[in-house]
Amino acid sequence: MTTNNVKDENVNDQIQEQVALQSLRWNGQQLDLLDQRLLPEEIVYLPLETPIEVWEAIRHLKVRGAPAIGIAAAYGVYLGIRGVDAVVDGLLAEVQKGADYLATSRPTAVNLFWALDRMRARASVLAAEGVSPDAFKAALLQEAQVIQAEDEDTNRRIGEHALTLFEDGFGVLTHCNAGGLATAKYGTALAPFYLAKEQGLNIKVFADETRPVLQGARLTAFELQQAGVDVTLICDNMAGAVMAKGWIQAVIVGTDRVAANGDVANKIGTYSVAVLAKAHGIPFYVASPLSTIDLNTPTGGDIPIEERHEDEITQGFGKRTAPVGVKVFNPAFDVTPNEYVTAIITEKGIVQAPYGENLRKLFE
Ligand code: MRU
Repeated sequence: MTTNNVKDENVNDQIQEQVALQSLRWNGQQLDLLDQRLLPEEIVYLPLETPIEVWEAIRHLKVRGAPAIGIAAAYGVYLGIRGVDAVVDGLLAEVQKGADYLATSRPTAVNLFWALDRMRARASVLAAEGVSPDAFKAALLQEAQVIQAEDEDTNRRIGEHALTLFEDGFGVLTHCNAGGLATAKYGTALAPFYLAKEQGLNIKVFADETRPVLQGARLTAFELQQAGVDVTLICDNMAGAVMAKGWIQAVIVGTDRVAANGDVANKIGTYSVAVLAKAHGIPFYVASPLSTIDLNTPTGGDIPIEERHEDEITQGFGKRTAPVGVKVFNPAFDVTPNEYVTAIITEKGIVQAPYGENLRKLFE
């Protein structure tokens, strides 16, 4: 499966050659997916050719981050029909089957279900239009590509809005990875840092390492460093200390699902950061595309929270760090209640409380 594999000292050269590291790209034949489990040590693109491979990549965090898994799943739906020899009704049934299957890969990020619903809806329209099987397949590939292209545009807009909240010289703390690696490009929470860099503003980013899977250390620190953004890595339990020092003027994080009342699910540890921010009088911002806002989920308590394997905690560093047989609780996400959220930054602008009303207005 490995198409491209390099070790430490060559990684920087290779990134320069590739200009921008993309989480995923359609190469005309298959989905080339950057294996994020291997970063920052190795840059490996996996050629994915079947829905099963896409499902496996999502489940095992080879691709992760709410928008990126939605995009990958959309391509997965297409991969499930491209070799099928059937009339359009048969292809439509395969789309439904493939989407149902891919929806079981991870439960929390609503972008996954949003993208799959979009593929289903496009397929239904095409079938109703009576297109040929070849045209049906081509249009579904195109839909996946449009989802990817729109995500890039959305994130740039989120970045522009977010940047209005920051000033030159600000210290900004982020948790997990809501960057280019988690999306088509730019990221959501990291987008303002890329735009600030373009505009010559100096923002000092503090990246929580993000236990247990270290998305902050392995991915956020990596992608910001590659882009020349001023980034400092801290352990999760240092966030309060850097806030107390006065180094943090704002917190910005991404999200996997925003409930209708403005409660926000994001990587485990986000809630603790929000509480710390409130205690220090620091604004806590959530960057969220509309595709992550789920008006059908009333509150944070209704968001399904994924629990992952205990090995992530007991032997996540390549060696055992806890006694065999110890009880482990390993939720991948937590919910930050809306009262801790200063604002939600979307591609359509910045939304504040009352969230129930103001989030609804975004969709009118
Ligand atoms: O388990 P992960 O790495 O998929 O979790 C990712 C996050 O929590 C991100 O903050 C979120 O998906 C937003 S990505 C723009």
